[in-house]
Amino acid sequence: MLIHGVTHTLWLLLLLHVSGMDSFKFNLFRKQAEVLPRDGDVRLAGSQTVSEGRVEIYHDGKWGTVCDDGWDLAVAQVVCRQLNFPGAKSAVNGGTYGEGSGPIWLDDMDCKGTENFLTSCFFGGWAITDCTHKEDVGVICEADMNVTISDTKHSLDHSLGLSAELGQLFDSGDGCDFQVLVQSPTGNRQENGTLEMVGTTICAHKMVLSRFPRFNASQGISSISVHVSQSCQPHFTSFIRYLYTRKMDVTFSSAQCLHQTASKFGVKQLMEDTGRLFTKVLPEDVTFHTQLSLYEYAVETGDMLLQENCVQYMAWNYQNLTQSPAWSRLSMGLLGVLLSRSDLVVPDESFLLRSLESWISEKGNSTSLESQADLLSRIRFPMIPAEKLYELQFSSTLYNAHQNVYRNNMLKAYQFNVLLFSTLRNSSTFKREEDDYQPRIYTAEPWDASIDSNVRESERKVGNRRDYYDYRYYYYTTARPYLQRRSKSFSTPVHNSMIFKDNMIHWEANVFQSQRECSNKGVKCESFPAARLTAQSSLSKYQSSVRFSNRLLLVCKGKYICQVQDFKNDLAHISSNSSKALPYPCPNDQYIYHFVVRPDYI
Ligand SMILES: *[C@@H]1O[C@H](CO)[C@@H](O)[C@H](O)[C@H]1NC(C)=O
Ligand SMILES: *[C@@H]1O[C@H](CO)[C@@H](O)[C@H](O)[C@H]1NC(C)=O
Ligand SMILES: *[C@@H]1O[C@H](CO)[C@@H](O)[C@H](O)[C@H]1NC(C)=O
Ligand SMILES: *[C@@H]1O[C@H](CO)[C@@H](O)[C@H](O)[C@H]1NC(C)=O
Ligand SMILES: *[C@@H]1O[C@H](CO)[C@@H](O)[C@H](O)[C@H]1NC(C)=O
Ligand SMILES: *[C@@H]1O[C@H](CO)[C@@H](O)[C@H](O)[C@H]1NC(C)=O
Ligand SMILES: *[C@@H]1O[C@H](CO)[C@@H](O)[C@H](O)[C@H]1NC(C)=O
Repeated sequence: MLIHGVTHTLWLLLLLHVSGMDSFKFNLFRKQAEVLPRDGDVRLAGSQTVSEGRVEIYHDGKWGTVCDDGWDLAVAQVVCRQLNFPGAKSAVNGGTYGEGSGPIWLDDMDCKGTENFLTSCFFGGWAITDCTHKEDVGVICEADMNVTISDTKHSLDHSLGLSAELGQLFDSGDGCDFQVLVQSPTGNRQENGTLEMVGTTICAHKMVLSRFPRFNASQGISSISVHVSQSCQPHFTSFIRYLYTRKMDVTFSSAQCLHQTASKFGVKQLMEDTGRLFTKVLPEDVTFHTQLSLYEYAVETGDMLLQENCVQYMAWNYQNLTQSPAWSRLSMGLLGVLLSRSDLVVPDESFLLRSLESWISEKGNSTSLESQADLLSRIRFPMIPAEKLYELQFSSTLYNAHQNVYRNNMLKAYQFNVLLFSTLRNSSTFKREEDDYQPRIYTAEPWDASIDSNVRESERKVGNRRDYYDYRYYYYTTARPYLQRRSKSFSTPVHNSMIFKDNMIHWEANVFQSQRECSNKGVKCESFPAARLTAQSSLSKYQSSVRFSNRLLLVCKGKYICQVQDFKNDLAHISSNSSKALPYPCPNDQYIYHFVVRPDYI
């Protein structure tokens, strides 16, 4: 699979599990470099698969092994759980994963199977054993949820032939004139107290590396030394080879190493491509810890694309974010970024204000009054209906501390609610382009209507013939269950301000699965499924003052928003999960379609 490949398919195997995943995912996006193991840490060695291998435990500054006396499934469960796998498949006896080195730390293990750490089990004492390394044990852990994500069309901007030749040049090392010494601490200390290092030397060509200034290859030196964590070391050679060929195989487990290395050496394209892979895991974590960690990681490594992908996900799923355990961990900076976005999906603006109030009260006095006022100023008060504005002075927990901010913004909001836009326009304090007058994506009644396509999904398995029956069903019987389920009528005011409260517009929302359904409505669809939102009332009366920038939200399996689309000529086409346009995956395309009406003054 190629990152910069031809229209190749990129298969990613993500070994993720729901239970006990917090810490694993959380750690996943922590910088790993130079992190030393702690006493009692375990790891798996001697296998290509992350979820199995020889069990090694860290103690007294050294990695050592475990002997197979007393080794059973209960012990294996503890090891696997300590490594954040959901459980163990089997306990593997002596030598299957090769012989380890260093001390044999543990023997005669006796676990109940419920312990969280291997060291909580009963054992005879550190290094008290009569075993040899031939009896080093292993485990196979469960990695039961395979999330398989396919990605296509990573565009190619170079000649394949040249790429292959450069690859050969690197592999042969002919004429190489630049040494990269890659070193990693093993965690063990030597007798004189210095950290033991393992490393390899890669011989490369200045000519190639000089295109990346951070290698210092053009500064008249002929070698550098680089420190990476031990688990990333194997990927460093692939990284250097990539600089020749611009092609590479990436798996989820190598992606983080590659991303870190690429960011360290300023190889932007590789950083963005690997970063894009991380984005695929965002919907997996309902606790939102991963999303926050990944965002922090993206800020740390300077990956703007990854930052944007994380923020966008949180903006679209803001409501769930506010209910997640990570909510109070949100940094002020990130909250500020979120509150500035127009693609924030929330029931209404007062929901946003309440969420901000709850965040501030949870943070206690750790945020200054100035920062609080700054966050408050990002609330779009004019989007709050007059009745709710009036209640703020009684209900808002911040009102007393920030009376001026509230009063100024409420005045502005009242004006917006009761004055015609053409009148406001003449006021010197009114600035049309201010964010305060731009709607976000409000899903509260009456602005949102939803259609669940999943009923249809099960029918689709029958294949094309089903459509044929549908067709007959529709025409030759009076009941029309399928088609009705995929269309909905609803009404909204022309605009959310007081003035237009009583002028209603009727809308019709449809989800089309076939060309015939489109034709029935007299529209031409380019692909399926397609969604349509049309006004059934005449809009011409309002055309000079209000425009509608409506949105289609796709909610994956009813759990998270994975796509937000505009309508063009009342139509929106849904990207399938195989296309690159889809930032967050949705297995089997099980969408609920939300049609959101967004009026905006012009
Ligand atoms: C996970 O993927 C591997 C490799 O494709 C496959 O052999 C295995 O059967 C899958 N496991 C499950 C539970 O789907
Ligand atoms: C410690 O010992 C190692 C080899 O055992 C040697 O390479 C290293 O230079 C020594 N370090 C110091 C500070 O003496
Ligand atoms: C390149 O040189 C700079 C200073 O000249 C140094 O800080 C940096 O670590 C060097 N990079 C590498 C990879 O050795
Ligand atoms: C925050 O509040 C606590 C008590 O609620 C108080 O002890 C502390 O001094 C306050 N800190 C600041 C910075 O105001
Ligand atoms: C706004 O100003 C324009 C001229 O700049 C004027 O023609 C119009 O009547 C004013 N509208 C209102 C409502 O005052
Ligand atoms: C988000 O919130 C909705 C409504 O509260 C809930 O049904 C859904 O399961 C949540 N999604 C996740 C991923 O927790
Ligand atoms: C979407 O992904 C699923 C597997 O998760 C696959 O079965 C389905 O065919 C894909 N849909 C499209 C349109 O590629």
